[in-house]
Amino acid sequence: MTAFTLDVHLPPDFAAQALARDALAGLTSTPKTLPPKWFYDKVGSELFEDITKLPEYYPTRAEREILEARADEVAAASGCDTLLELGSGSSIKTRLLIDAIRAHGGLGSYVALDVSADALQDAGMSLVADYPDLAVHGLVADFEHQLDLLPAGGRRLVAFLGSTIGNFEPASRAAFLGSLRAALTTGDRFLLGADLVKSPDVLVAAYDDPAGVTAAFNKNVLSVLNHGLGANFDPTEFDHVAVWDADSEWIEMRLRSRRAQDVHVDALDLDVHFADGEQMRTEISAKFRRETLEGDLSAAGFTPAGWWTDEAGRFSLSLWEPVG
Ligand code: AVJ
Repeated sequence: MTAFTLDVHLPPDFAAQALARDALAGLTSTPKTLPPKWFYDKVGSELFEDITKLPEYYPTRAEREILEARADEVAAASGCDTLLELGSGSSIKTRLLIDAIRAHGGLGSYVALDVSADALQDAGMSLVADYPDLAVHGLVADFEHQLDLLPAGGRRLVAFLGSTIGNFEPASRAAFLGSLRAALTTGDRFLLGADLVKSPDVLVAAYDDPAGVTAAFNKNVLSVLNHGLGANFDPTEFDHVAVWDADSEWIEMRLRSRRAQDVHVDALDLDVHFADGEQMRTEISAKFRRETLEGDLSAAGFTPAGWWTDEAGRFSLSLWEPVG
């Protein structure tokens, strides 16, 4: 018996259309930018998995440490019986939450929302194999624009882990938190995994590892454009750059052109010129403080309901209650 269902709320050509839109906007703006969501094709997802194993990249281990130590407290503080996860990917850390909620008051269903049907399918099948009595539901959707699809019913805990929130620029972060607040009701809770501000040396090392895995991850976005849009980027003609922006409190990843060069993007019928040394932004990874998170969340209509960090205080897991 498998209690796994998958609902597709994105058109089959969603990814291709969105990639074309984002690439056109980003490659024709000054400075050039590309959104980080396009890192994660098959190769990029594997490179990200490799990043999470690097000694310098602490966020994944720190978040897992918190969940291993505190998932029971989180489950108790939330009082929830339904788990919804945004951008769930492989749902591995989710098992710690599932186990804790089951041990606490019982878990009726687990709903995972992700843009990748493949990731949802794999994660869903493996979850129902391990939890035969759990209803597992996959939603193929974009959490930036489709939170109204979150199913009603039960006391819902919406989990947004992995510091994915750090990829939003401030305006998009506010819009995301606002639409999440609008999708929630009394009794629901929001569980957020967010990386914290720390020494720039530690932060930069986490995004510029000596083994070059993050550099390969960053340059892979050019291969995504090559395959998806018929572009002719030569990834070896770009260098990986990671800088700490102390004013905005975010890490910025960029690709720096090694020389003056021209790239053609067939699907956009677009020629793109890069000056020698020109830098294109490919990701921001914002780092948070407890006070700044409380400010952002309270502006969106949430009040604090729990705060946990790893022993070293590098990463936070926080629980929020909708108000107003
Ligand atoms: C998956 C968005 C949390 O920002 O740390 C890792 C992605 N980028 N190394 C992050 C990432 C470079 C990661 N997130």
